[in-house]
Amino acid sequence: MQQQLNIVILAAGQGKRMNSALPKVLHPIGTKAMLQHVVETAQSLNPQQLIIVHGHGGEQVQQILNQACPNFNLTWAWQDRQLGTGHALKCALGQLSSTGITLVLYGDVPLISQATLQAMLAKYTGNNLVMLTDNLTNPFGYGRIVRNHAGEIIAIVEEKDATTEQKLIQEINTGFYLLPNIQLASWLHSLSNNNSQGEYYLTDVVALASQQGMAIDYVKAANSYEVLGVNNKVQLEQLERIYQLNQANSLLEAGITLADKQRIEIRGQITAGKDCFIDINCIFKGSVILGDNVTIGAGCILDNVTVADNVTIKPYSILEQATIGELSQVGPYARLRPGTKLLEHTHIGNFVEIKNSTIGNQSKVNHLTYIGDAQIGQKVNIGAGSVTCNYDGKNKFKTIIGDNVFIGSGTMMVAPVVIQQGSLIGAGSVITKNTPANELTISRAKQVTITGWLAKRNTPQGS
Ligand code: UD1
Ligand code: CA
Repeated sequence: MQQQLNIVILAAGQGKRMNSALPKVLHPIGTKAMLQHVVETAQSLNPQQLIIVHGHGGEQVQQILNQACPNFNLTWAWQDRQLGTGHALKCALGQLSSTGITLVLYGDVPLISQATLQAMLAKYTGNNLVMLTDNLTNPFGYGRIVRNHAGEIIAIVEEKDATTEQKLIQEINTGFYLLPNIQLASWLHSLSNNNSQGEYYLTDVVALASQQGMAIDYVKAANSYEVLGVNNKVQLEQLERIYQLNQANSLLEAGITLADKQRIEIRGQITAGKDCFIDINCIFKGSVILGDNVTIGAGCILDNVTVADNVTIKPYSILEQATIGELSQVGPYARLRPGTKLLEHTHIGNFVEIKNSTIGNQSKVNHLTYIGDAQIGQKVNIGAGSVTCNYDGKNKFKTIIGDNVFIGSGTMMVAPVVIQQGSLIGAGSVITKNTPANELTISRAKQVTITGWLAKRNTPQGS
């Protein structure tokens, strides 16, 4: 039964054990703040209210989340001193609707899934409390679920308050609850901090509900990793690996072939067509879109790149804010910087750097070349070691190269300059003036041979 849904994310803790100046909930998983993962999952349930309880590093947390999720209607509740989870939720009480239900989530438990939360919502009857639980072979540190003889949940006892017998219970509290708002205020007001930690425990609402005869239902987490929290860098790294493996599995399920699902990093989103292959140790950042039949060699980094069908990116190429037209080949060891646009059937080879330039259909830049701020036509061949000299130390200038141009190796094109279509530029030229169409242009000192010079140098003195 669905009612007005309020979601509260507790995110006020300091995270001392992270040993970091960054507030704990801003530490990233897949380069996205943990809290942002939780906020996005929460938002996917379309809550009426989405409230974040913040405290440590509060302003920074608020600023970064508002920036990252500009379209979400986030409400902030301030907890100035961290007096316990019950106190934290109490700080949000003023923002909750008087009826409806409240789902409690955590800013440092980032991998909770929409499906698990929906399973909790599905258990809500209108007059019960729903908990998310798990069974752990090593439950140390967690609150334990206490049941009566009839098997009904009656309380949660924290590790530090548990008897020896209770410590043997393997059914644990994950901290996620679905609570009816009508009773919530009175429960939170009646919490005491009379326990071993001197904190207001949110867990105590379970015993209060039970005493009032309310049914307490539970859902078991579909995957144990969903309820894992982060307190230190060891746990952060563990969750990062789980997150990465989940991403890799989704790619495999979508039909992308991976050489090794343990050796791929997705720090953003990839979408791909059919029959793509990704070799080991590639990193994907931002939004990467691959067409059909794209092959990506080992060690490539693609950062906000769109790749059309039938493209091969050879090993150790780095592409950033670039688009690659179909049937093109890039690398090995190519560097495509922001604003690179390769049209169809282009070849970009090893140790070639391209920035803010368009390369026309069937053009080739195969070896050891820098192309910056250039517009290159179709069927152009740029010889090895050529450079568009686009910068005079103060300003950037454009190089325009027409269709069917052949640039000999080692050519310096001093921009601004236009190389008209069909031009052939002799190797080693320094081109400072526009060249006419369909002509050979060459600028190079004449080669001379000094006959006898070596023989003279090599003859011993006085002989
Ligand atoms: C809590 C539960 C425990 C459960 C465990 C699951 C309580 C009393 N215990 O224990 O039963 O097994 O989670 O991980 O709730 N927070 C605030 N303000 C506060 C205190 C905490 O925002 O004043 C936030 C923290 O930032 C953290 C979360 O609440 O994200 C949990 O707090 P923590 O102190 O870590 O609770 P645990 O002792 O782990
Ligand atoms: Ca904790």
